[in-house]
Amino acid sequence: MKLQGRVALVTGGGRGLGQGIVKRLAEAGCDVAVVDVLLDNAQKVAEEVKALGRRAIAVQTDVTQWDQVQDMVKQTVSKLGKLDIAVNNAGVIIIKSVEELTEQDWDYVNDVNAKGVFLCCKAEIGPMKNQGWGRIINTASIAGKEGFPDLSHYCASKFAVVGFTNALSKELKRTGITVNAICPGIIGTGMWYGPNGLAEKWKLPGETMDESWKRHQDQLIPQGVAQTPEDMGDLAVYFATAEHVTGQSVNVDGGLVSH
Ligand SMILES: NC(=O)c1ccc[n+]([C@@H]2O[C@H](COP(=O)([O-])OP(=O)(O)OC[C@H]3O[C@@H](n4cnc5c(N)ncnc54)[C@H](O)[C@@H]3O)[C@@H](O)[C@H]2O)c1
Repeated sequence: MKLQGRVALVTGGGRGLGQGIVKRLAEAGCDVAVVDVLLDNAQKVAEEVKALGRRAIAVQTDVTQWDQVQDMVKQTVSKLGKLDIAVNNAGVIIIKSVEELTEQDWDYVNDVNAKGVFLCCKAEIGPMKNQGWGRIINTASIAGKEGFPDLSHYCASKFAVVGFTNALSKELKRTGITVNAICPGIIGTGMWYGPNGLAEKWKLPGETMDESWKRHQDQLIPQGVAQTPEDMGDLAVYFATAEHVTGQSVNVDGGLVSH
């Protein structure tokens, strides 16, 4: 197994993309700290990791809170022995035009998506630097490369993650730590498929949510099908094993965005 003996931490690991990333890292041999603001979900996914024969802990953390983020890293190191791979994946979405958007909406989305990534990286660097090896993997988005309507605040937060990732990779270039980002395209988690998701919000008159979801896959994605959480896990495993790839934000989007 490519990552046998490595210890990983995944924020937002309790469902969606995070769950797929946890699964692929565990299959590759990692012990995993499954981190989420919702403890029940984190515990369920930690049990899935144990069923694969790996060690796992569930950690309840709100990534916008510095004291909780520091504790997340401390718990990982004290209970699993070290921290090798950190996937900073927790994120939220609100779908509103700039005219509808409130200051609170802006702050909430940018606090979780951008400040959360900053705080996690800040806490994770120390133990990785001490051992001279580490992998930081942030979840950005294709909305960190291109603007989408009703998502200006979300795009701002994800462009921030792409820029932050590249800058941090340069700060850490001689430390043994690489810093990269995954840019997911369109995946049928709550962000797209569900009561407050994009498929619901962008329905045409008379269209059901299922029809809207199918139409968006067909019209937006060159390959015609949505990506999966496990696709993001495959890229996380690649970044974790690559020795000379750093500062990159790589799209996993079926060909939707080409830069
Ligand atoms: N689904 C998509 O199509 C898509 C596309 C591009 C990027 N992304 C990004 O992928 C990441 C995961 O999204 P998802 O689709 O799996 O969404 P999701 O809502 O299914 O999962 C997000 C997870 O993050 C957790 N979370 C939310 N706020 C948190 C906080 N403050 N602290 C800790 N955990 C918190 C949630 O409890 C949840 O488990 C996000 O960063 C999102 O922006 C998703």
